[in-house]
Amino acid sequence: MSTRPIKTVFSGMQPTSGVTLGNYLGAMRNFVKLQHEAKCYFCVVDLHALTIPKDPAELRQNTLDMARTYVAAGIDPKVATIFVQSHVPAHAEMSWLMEVSSYYGELQRMTQFKDKAAKAEVVTTGLFTYPALMAADILLYDTTHVPVGDDQKQHLELTRDIAVRLNNRFGRELLVVPEPYIPPREAGGRIMSLQEPTQKMSKSDTNELGTIYLMDPPDVIRKKIKRAVTDPGREVRYDPENKPGVSNLMVILSLCSGMSLEEISERYDGYGQFKKDVAEAVVAVLEPLQKRFKELSEPGVIEEILARGAEEAEAVATPVLRRVQDALGLLPRRRP
Ligand code: AMP
Ligand code: TRP
Repeated sequence: MSTRPIKTVFSGMQPTSGVTLGNYLGAMRNFVKLQHEAKCYFCVVDLHALTIPKDPAELRQNTLDMARTYVAAGIDPKVATIFVQSHVPAHAEMSWLMEVSSYYGELQRMTQFKDKAAKAEVVTTGLFTYPALMAADILLYDTTHVPVGDDQKQHLELTRDIAVRLNNRFGRELLVVPEPYIPPREAGGRIMSLQEPTQKMSKSDTNELGTIYLMDPPDVIRKKIKRAVTDPGREVRYDPENKPGVSNLMVILSLCSGMSLEEISERYDGYGQFKKDVAEAVVAVLEPLQKRFKELSEPGVIEEILARGAEEAEAVATPVLRRVQDALGLLPRRRP
């Protein structure tokens, strides 16, 4: 898919309680990998979280916890920039410029909006314009690549469309057109629910057993995998169409152990030992992450990382914002 060298990476996650194994395998793992290949910005998108009303104290705590999770997962704040979206005002300002550069009909077609609007008690205007804010996030850093899970594809296409539209209108490369960095399904782009393996693993799943959280204690992880829905027969074979449950567990095992899907398929005959090994592989990945997360709870540590991150991010985002403001015809402010 990628046609350009990976130069600048941007991604974000909402500070909601409970980061899932799907978030980790689909996106965060790639953040860790990419930090050594490109300049990376990893944002805690608290403004996006507000699109569905949140308890203020909880939102603040979840914001810190999301940043801690980034670091616990292996993102090195000395190498990559970790910051909170609302700390860099350019995001909200750029978001307006993206709203006036996208079309109502375009936003209406966003499937995530339709899904969330159908479930939400109140549908805020922000929930509707959410993808314009996401486009702002990405375009402010002249991002070349955006690592996300498969469900963000449509939002990224919109971001690209806006960038191309503005470039065409102004006849120059005003904005860098970003490319998605989405793993194929067999590499974690879409981790499925353990209970309904035809649906993606999600924190909004009402069946608790369907979703593994990064902070689940080892015994809970073992229980959830033991109870995971498999498919008729006993063959361990990658076939997402006919064996969605087993295929999903195979992907999880493969990503957590380094074994290929073929090796896994050859190794097991029946589901018993297979499931035990899936559980142990997940525990082996999450246990050290949980330990690091606890270590980062010392007051001030994560706050310091975020303070520096905001400075770094702002220094890059503000000039890009000015470039777009200028192109659109806003009068530059002169200081007295
Ligand atoms: P969200 O929890 O919706 O804020 O998602 C954060 C990141 O995790 C995004 O890049 C999503 O695409 C990714 N993601 C969420 N759920 C899954 C899943 N079940 N499989 C793979 N990636 C996912
Ligand atoms: N919309 C993304 C999600 O729900 C989160 C997000 C916000 C994001 N801004 C972004 C992801 C910029 C990548 C780049 O997962």
